[in-house]
Amino acid sequence: MASTSVSVPQTTYTLPAKFYHWSTAVLIASMFITIWLRGFAESKSAAQAFWTNAHTSLGILVFGLTVLRLLSRIRVPESGESAFGEFLRTAMHRTLLVVTLLLPISGFVRMAARNRVTDFFGYAIASPFGDAPSIYAIGRALHGDAMQYVVLALIALHVAAALGHHYFLKDDTLRRMV
Ligand code: HEM
Ligand code: HEM
Repeated sequence: MASTSVSVPQTTYTLPAKFYHWSTAVLIASMFITIWLRGFAESKSAAQAFWTNAHTSLGILVFGLTVLRLLSRIRVPESGESAFGEFLRTAMHRTLLVVTLLLPISGFVRMAARNRVTDFFGYAIASPFGDAPSIYAIGRALHGDAMQYVVLALIALHVAAALGHHYFLKDDTLRRMV
């Protein structure tokens, strides 16, 4: 007897997708917390070095996770949105992924272009640039004060959209990511 296979539409994010998403969210929060705590430490103190190292180590981890997430070709569940809604959703997610890749790269450039050694959980990464003021200026521009507000605004918009779907549109957008 011939068997028929019916393809069931994917309605929720897979476990690895949820793992990548929520670990990235926690790590991004920790990036802001470490740099904030660093601000309380005295210049050139052991505490300042500790928070800088925590920032660079966790930041490189975010980069690694995002690369893994992109390589793993996670399938996004169908949303049932209008074409415009789908466009906005995809555009926001792609922007967040690009930002999550660019932040650690620009952070590393900001660190290394002043010939500083970057710490990754005790493993020292030497600077490939040496002391390079023009490269540092790019790192500083991309990984400085203004960047914080852009990133926080994007995340706020993303979270507001998730909560709006859950509480106002009362659909499954948030549920399928938890
Ligand atoms: C998703 C990852 C990251 C986020 C969200 C993030 C966020 C931030 C924020 C908000 C600041 C403060 C900017 C300012 O006030 O000028 C900062 C500073 C900095 N970040 Fe990151 N960062 C990330 C990854 C990295 C990585 C991977 C490195 C290095 C390998 C790094 C190195 C630095 C350095 C050197 C500073 C300046 C610290 C100082 O001297 O004041 N960041 N980062
Ligand atoms: C409390 C904070 C957060 C909440 C409540 C949240 C909620 C969600 C929800 C509900 C989805 C699924 C949306 C859909 O299927 O259309 C999603 C997807 C996504 N979120 Fe978040 N999110 C949060 C933080 C973040 C952060 C900090 C980032 C990265 C900077 C991020 C990046 C993404 C990406 C890239 C996707 C697309 C799924 C994927 O490609 O893995 N989210 N988020």
